[in-house]
Amino acid sequence: MISSPALRAGVALSLTAAGALLGAALVGQRAYDWIKALHVIAIVSWMAGMLYLPRLFIYHCDAETGSKQSETFKVMEGRLLRVIINPAMIFAWVTGLWLAWQSGFYKAGWFHGKILLVLLLSGAHGYLSANVRAFAEDRNLKSPRHWRIVNEVPTVLMIGIIVLVIVKPF
Ligand code: HEM
Repeated sequence: MISSPALRAGVALSLTAAGALLGAALVGQRAYDWIKALHVIAIVSWMAGMLYLPRLFIYHCDAETGSKQSETFKVMEGRLLRVIINPAMIFAWVTGLWLAWQSGFYKAGWFHGKILLVLLLSGAHGYLSANVRAFAEDRNLKSPRHWRIVNEVPTVLMIGIIVLVIVKPF
C-alpha cells in the first residue's frame, strides 16, 4: 500500500532524477558532474537510513511485544527501508557504476578498495533488511547492546569509503 510519506519520497526522488537527467542533457560534457551530484545525494540518503535503522532497533527492543509502541516501530522501520534505504542504495549503485565506467576509475587501486567496502556495506544493508522482517514478525532475539555495536558498522565503512574516494591514496 502506498502511504503518503512513501508517495512524497517517491515524487522527491523522481524529481531529483528528472532534474539531474535534464541537467545532464542541457550541459552535455558536464553530465559527469551532474551524475556525481546525484550519486552523492543517493549515498547521503542511503547512509542516513543505514545509521538510523539500528537506532530504531535499539528502542524497539525496549518496547513490549504487541504494544502500540512496538507496532509504531514496525511501521517506521518498514517505511524507512522501503521508501529511503532500498531506492537510495539502487541509485548509489547505478550512478556509481556509471561514474566508474565513464572515468575509467574501475582500473584504479583505490576504486577496488572502495568497491570492497561498498560490498560490505551492501551486506550490512541485507542484514538490517532481514531484521526489519524479524522485528515485524516479533522474532528479534538480539539485545540492544548487539544493535549498538551493529550501529557502528556503517559508520566505520563510510569513513573508509569517503577517504578512498576523496584522497585516492593508491
Ligand atoms: C554503490 C557503489 C558505488 C560505486 C560503484 C561508486 C563509484 C564512484 C565513482 C566512480 C565516483 C567518481 C570519483 C571521482 O570522480 O573522483 C564516486 C564518487 C563519490 N562517491 Fe561513490 N560509489 C559507490 C558508493 C558510494 C558510497 C556508499 C559512498 C559513501 C558512503 C560514496 C561516496 C562518494 C563520494 C563522496 C563521491 C564524490 C567524490 C569526489 O567528487 O571527489 N560512494 N563514486
